[in-house]
Amino acid sequence: MTRGQTAYTSPAQFRARRLAASPFSRPTVGATGPLSRTAPACPPLFAPWRQRRVDTSAYKRMGSGGTPTLTIRPATAGDIEPVVSLDAQITAVSKPEYWRDLFGRYGTQEAGRHFLVAMLDNTLAGFIIGEVRAWEFGSPPCGWVFALTVDPEGRLRGVGTNLFEAICGRFRDEGVTKIRTMVSKNGDAKTLMSFFRSQGMMAGPFIELEKDLAP
Ligand SMILES: CC(C)(COP(=O)(O)OP(=O)(O)OC[C@H]1O[C@@H](n2cnc3c(N)ncnc32)[C@H](O)[C@@H]1OP(=O)(O)O)[C@@H](O)C(=O)NCCC(=O)NCCS
Repeated sequence: MTRGQTAYTSPAQFRARRLAASPFSRPTVGATGPLSRTAPACPPLFAPWRQRRVDTSAYKRMGSGGTPTLTIRPATAGDIEPVVSLDAQITAVSKPEYWRDLFGRYGTQEAGRHFLVAMLDNTLAGFIIGEVRAWEFGSPPCGWVFALTVDPEGRLRGVGTNLFEAICGRFRDEGVTKIRTMVSKNGDAKTLMSFFRSQGMMAGPFIELEKDLAP
């Protein structure tokens, strides 16, 4: 069966299957199963920020049947630099001030605000940021995810799913029963849509409008 042909009767059934297929047993728990999945080919990247000094040994061990440990934890100040670097690699724009500001607001472990990182051994494998928003446009409190990125070298191994599950768990613990996000039509929309649909997310009740204010 190829991608896109799998039939799931419910999001819960999908999530259970997806997490079972991940080489990582559960978030924050070391990987125990064999790595049977094939990494996507990483496109050649020539941007200067690609020359970040990361420890790639965990990725190499993933490819060679090793068992790196995946940990999902709140971001710390030491994670900002690798987050800036990973984001720059994906979006082609380096914005350290933006990420430092986000860390200041969401990395405080304040209730309802979550900046989580996925660490493969000691290497940043991805991050997710979200918050509980209440009564925007009349909506009861719900969780919003507004940033999610997984290192291209570690994709399609369940890192994104584990990050998403981790933030869903935190939102649930805070009493919200709905999670929302938006996907830009630019950038990697197809992959993001495919990912969020795979997590059971569907079209929401809002229509986004905009107007150009430039003279
Ligand atoms: C979307 C993203 C987070 C997925 O991370 P990931 O760790 O590869 O995701 P998972 O391995 O948990 O994949 C879960 C499911 O998502 C779907 N999916 C993920 N990547 C996909 C791809 N390239 N094509 C089609 N479906 C895909 C699949 O259904 C997959 O399940 P399967 O492997 O059993 O088929 C990652 O591709 C990414 O960071 N993309 C760039 C995001 C971006 O542009 N961020 C900047 C703006 S916020």
